[in-house]
Amino acid sequence: MQIRVGVNGATTEHDVEPRTLLVHYLREDVGLTGTKVGCDTSSCGACTVLVDGESVKSCTMLAVQADGAEVTTIEGLAPEGEMHRVQQAFHEQHGLQCGFCTAGMVMASVSLLEEVPNPTERDVRLGLEGNLCRCTGYHNIVQAVLAAARAGS
Ligand code: FES
Ligand code: FES
Repeated sequence: MQIRVGVNGATTEHDVEPRTLLVHYLREDVGLTGTKVGCDTSSCGACTVLVDGESVKSCTMLAVQADGAEVTTIEGLAPEGEMHRVQQAFHEQHGLQCGFCTAGMVMASVSLLEEVPNPTERDVRLGLEGNLCRCTGYHNIVQAVLAAARAGS
């Protein structure tokens, strides 16, 4: 099926099989490999992107369902090379170790801060409960999101 998807402000158009997942469309057809695949059970959140501004695990959505939508991936957060405040906060607060979960964590955090601009620590922990990190113990990730919130207020 021919689909047309806005990705980070550009129009992408590809012929995909109906069973193609959005995450595979982004990584293999569009060539944006910042979005990661960390599980096959919809549980890790490494594949999180924004679809029409909403946080979505892109392994739970078919590419054809994104036909006509606007998708933002981690590559779209810093189009001019200047880090988004959430990326900057993850950097400054050491909110990552191996980095595998980071793109998904950052995208989920961007979405969270859109909905709750001044979250409490509990809000952040609840907001990111769908994103797993095997390295950090979460403390610095939570601190990073709180710092990003302060930077945006
Ligand atoms: S790869 Fe999508 S939730 Fe794990
Ligand atoms: S930094 Fe390694 S999985 Fe989160």
